[in-house]
Amino acid sequence: MTPTPLRERAAWRALETHYSTIGLRHLRDLFTEDPERGTRLAAEAAGIYLDYSKNRVTDETLGLLIDLAEESRLAERRDAMFNGERINVSENRSVLHVALRMPRGTSLLVDGVDVVAEVHAVLDRMANFARQIRSGAWLGYTGRPIVNIVNVGIGGSDLGPVMAYEALRHYSQRNLNFRFVANVDATDFVEAVREMDAAETMFIISSKTFGTLETMTNAHSARAWLVDQLGDEAAIARHFVAVSTNEALVSAFGIDPANVFGFWDWVGGRYSMDSAIGLSTMLAIGPTRFHEMLAGFHAMDEHFRTAPLAENLPVLMGLLAIWNRNFLGCPTVGVMPYDQYLQRLPAYLQQLTMESNGKHVTLDGAEVDYATGPIYWGEPGTNGQHSFFQLIHQGTTVVPVDLIGFAKSLNPLGSHHDVLSSNVFAQAQALAFGKTEADVRAQGTPPHQVAHRVMAGNRPTNVLLAEVLTPRLLGSLIALYEHSVFTQGTIWDIDSYDQWGVELGKVLANQILPELSSASTPTLRHDSSTNALIERYRALRQREATHDDK
Ligand code: F6P
Repeated sequence: MTPTPLRERAAWRALETHYSTIGLRHLRDLFTEDPERGTRLAAEAAGIYLDYSKNRVTDETLGLLIDLAEESRLAERRDAMFNGERINVSENRSVLHVALRMPRGTSLLVDGVDVVAEVHAVLDRMANFARQIRSGAWLGYTGRPIVNIVNVGIGGSDLGPVMAYEALRHYSQRNLNFRFVANVDATDFVEAVREMDAAETMFIISSKTFGTLETMTNAHSARAWLVDQLGDEAAIARHFVAVSTNEALVSAFGIDPANVFGFWDWVGGRYSMDSAIGLSTMLAIGPTRFHEMLAGFHAMDEHFRTAPLAENLPVLMGLLAIWNRNFLGCPTVGVMPYDQYLQRLPAYLQQLTMESNGKHVTLDGAEVDYATGPIYWGEPGTNGQHSFFQLIHQGTTVVPVDLIGFAKSLNPLGSHHDVLSSNVFAQAQALAFGKTEADVRAQGTPPHQVAHRVMAGNRPTNVLLAEVLTPRLLGSLIALYEHSVFTQGTIWDIDSYDQWGVELGKVLANQILPELSSASTPTLRHDSSTNALIERYRALRQREATHDDK
């Protein structure tokens, strides 16, 4: 049944009216009026404490947002996802990344197949391979153990693996070196393998489709590099494995079917880090810790599936995101992990959030008349504070920020961790409460500086606090964002699981490619800008050739 268009839903209308009364209220006043606010507007699940009290909401706002979730049939759609229904309508696919972390022995039937059993069969094969590599039992073509692992993939086949490797590096086996090659710019590959000996190197070619131009270009260069160093095509079997849903293309590439780890079309690329796409993660941290990570994902899945909406972390985060985007009109969200190991989390979340919710039509194909997915970006704290935080504090654009902190460091050293953590709390405080003109004057500020030093505050933050970064915690954290994305996409009535927008650029690049390299310089039939750029490029390439010839 088609839902009522979003802006005609009763709860949406009530939120619009409500915004006109609450919208400009200041967090300073909301906190003064309600001394319990800081503990009341908080929720906890799977080891993550969410303080959302510094959002510009009241109990009434939250109640109306929950009404909106109910009117948008969030619980029904969530259950449809968990039951394997084809909620990715434009691709007619189930969306079942939650099955990737269901415990062994449970089951979920999709089209008569128990997908959980299939998931664990692949996990077992991955574990067997990981144990061989990690123990040194897997020997390369010349009889030497593997010490270098190179994951070749892009998008979801890169960002999850590299983010998880960095995040869990503390738990990784340190005699193994990991590299992640994504960009088709040859520099990425060349620099990754520059100091490597092919005899000790394993390539994981990660691609759901096994047709992505960047990954295939890098994979062919990797194969040529290896065969050149080891002098025999037969070496490929000992140095290449693939992770893909496309067995036919993998075997056409020349990888032994015994060395292929599969997954399924119901796993979206940006939701695949806990599938076989996480093979590099398992090689780094080992099967036991990989399973701990899956348990963390599952704990958050279960919370999302069963907790009442008003206590449900992903639901709350998703609804607050809707409030900030559609009522406060915030175009972007900053994500600032105060943990160096999470340095790639913002990049990972960019794909997760923006490829999912960067959509302009509803599930029925009708143009939306409201804003959808905001721009996500960020940097680890405290580094960001010394570059772009100025704009967040005093710029004219309000940027809601997620601040992610941990009570314990994995590398305790003197006072570092308390210095780091004090900044998490201080930033949330400064953004919420700012500094009034009276405060500024009371500090004896020279008159010409007063206006410059006033900080309006009233800038929303979520603070996510956990004990320590573990594989389990990482799983829960990622699942939290996945389900927040789901919540937002459901309210917006969009397909969060397709990505047609990235196709056009790929098609056009394929048309232009032969025009760049062709000696016959075919007539260009693009727009005048593209034609001029291609012609200039060709001319510059020609000049480069002249230099080389000298
Ligand atoms: O171009 C976008 C995209 O399709 C992403 O959704 C995906 O994660 C990435 O490309 C890589 O795709 P594949 O794993 O099939 O190589």
